[in-house]
Amino acid sequence: MASSRYPLDEIRARCDIAEIVSGYVALRRSGRSLKGLCPFHAEKTPSFTVNRDTQRWMCFGCGENGDIFSFLMRIEGLTFPEAVEQLASRTGVQVSQAVKDGRSAGERDLVLRVNNLAAVYFRELLQKSTEAKDYVRNRGVVPEAAEKFQLGYASGEWRDLSNYLKSRGVKPEEAEKAGLVIAGDRGHYDRFRNRLIFPIFDAQNRVIGFGGRALSSEDVKYINSPETRVFVKNRTLYALNFARRAVVEQDCVVIVEGYMDALTAHAAEFDNIVATMGTALTPEHVNILSRYTKRAVLAFDADSAGMSAAVRSAPMFEQAEFDVRVAAMPAGEDPDSLIRHGGRSAFAELVANAVPIPDYRIGMLRASHDTSAREGQLALLKEAIPIVAEVARQVERERLIALLAPYHPNFRSGTAPAEAHLRQEIDSKRARARTGTRAAPARPGNEKRINLLSEEGKAVRKAESELLGNIICRGLNPSDVFSELPPEEFVTEGARILAAAVQEDCENRGTLNIDELTTRVAATPGERFLNEILVTAAEPSDVPMADLIGAVKIYRKKEQEKRYRNLAERIERGEIKRTDKEFAEYWQLVRELHT
Ligand code: UTP
Ligand code: MN
Repeated sequence: MASSRYPLDEIRARCDIAEIVSGYVALRRSGRSLKGLCPFHAEKTPSFTVNRDTQRWMCFGCGENGDIFSFLMRIEGLTFPEAVEQLASRTGVQVSQAVKDGRSAGERDLVLRVNNLAAVYFRELLQKSTEAKDYVRNRGVVPEAAEKFQLGYASGEWRDLSNYLKSRGVKPEEAEKAGLVIAGDRGHYDRFRNRLIFPIFDAQNRVIGFGGRALSSEDVKYINSPETRVFVKNRTLYALNFARRAVVEQDCVVIVEGYMDALTAHAAEFDNIVATMGTALTPEHVNILSRYTKRAVLAFDADSAGMSAAVRSAPMFEQAEFDVRVAAMPAGEDPDSLIRHGGRSAFAELVANAVPIPDYRIGMLRASHDTSAREGQLALLKEAIPIVAEVARQVERERLIALLAPYHPNFRSGTAPAEAHLRQEIDSKRARARTGTRAAPARPGNEKRINLLSEEGKAVRKAESELLGNIICRGLNPSDVFSELPPEEFVTEGARILAAAVQEDCENRGTLNIDELTTRVAATPGERFLNEILVTAAEPSDVPMADLIGAVKIYRKKEQEKRYRNLAERIERGEIKRTDKEFAEYWQLVRELHT
């Protein structure tokens, strides 16, 4: 493999897989391994497992597995060389120029490097501009917050940054790839001019893009970097790099709309705050957040755009099984202004009093109707029933029904008749909605993978995994196993391939080498089997070897007998001809089973 020119072992030795993975997945200790919610499929209970000793990961839910390089490739969408070079630079391992020259420098790396230069330059400009410093001060940004968020300033000139980048060896086309300069009729010019600059970080604190706040009220209020190789808007949450630890610790994320909201909130020591940067929340956002917590509070602006964004996001959160609530901002405020006008406690109280989305919507209806009058009550119910009907969980619907019952005309004769009538209307509305969408295809991707193995099959798979685990992780002599149970007699396909690779590797070099083994089984079912062993290696079993081997042999024999009976019946019925492959298989089984 060409990639072997990379110092992979050295990088591996200096990396801690747990630390790298923690940048994306909240890991909790579970026995001797670490567990978290799989970032590669939707799940409620953690089956994503990382083993620090063997530096491997595996999701026991979706089956994805691998090492530190494949993790980064999958989660960041990197190529193998990009993943290797990223880890090399993070661990300070030198990748020789010869290896690097073998490929053109990745566009990702380039954009990150240019962004980094620009961020540093913008910060210098902020220090030099009285106007910008005044703006920052007037908006109540304390120096610590400006420092933490690495605020900067883009001057009003057309080519300040362009020229600076040029002086640092960045070509205009490269700066354009980073979205920092724009190609115009008369050459390149800076995208951000006369703006306060908010660098946008990824979870690893790398600058992936920028937001720019106009200092002059005549300009468009905010402009942002365009999408680049590293900046994908619908997957980016501003301030997640600062918030992720607190989100896990508090098991809750508070989502705001704006850069300033996030900055002011963090400055007021609300540490679990992220911002959507004005755009709507996307399923990707929710998926990313679900790695850290399943509880969210939406603290959007008190304008209609903010409200409807909150309401629209309800189904997404519901599908991801979040507990999501809305903190209703007082009219005309956003979190930034509220914290500055009402102090830390005003915002804290608002977040603490956040209510589920349907309650929030019903609350809005209540405020818009005169519920002291019969007409107002009926109008409220008419609009509230569809809201409740959309709620998937029955307990939640019941809770809302109880909330609405006092507005129902039947309520005079008691709670029960009022609730019964509401329940009936809601259920029939749900039934109608269901028949209307029955033809809709099931959502792909999220369905649980069914484990086709019987209980017995699972036990055998486990026995095989323990046998090979003893060889691979605990130095058991392979011939102790293979003399009794040759590789081709392993029952599970992955185990059979892995066993054969173990035997070959030992024969070739006299000892077992895990990297070599990894290469041998790459892209076969043996790969998953190996990673599963490496991930669970921490737990040696006390089942005697002979029993493990016996279990595999007995199961194999049973399966063979089943197959033998099946073939025999079909031969009797004339379904298999003498020339068929299955006829030969039958005689092979006869020989094996009767000797
Ligand atoms: P807001 O209009 O609420 O701005 O947009 P803000 O955050 O309160 O900003 P200040 O306090 O007036 O400075 C919320 C977010 O929407 C995005 C930005 O990320 C902004 O922080 N936005 C807004 C844009 O991208 N472009 C715009 O023109 C406006
Ligand atoms: Mn705002």
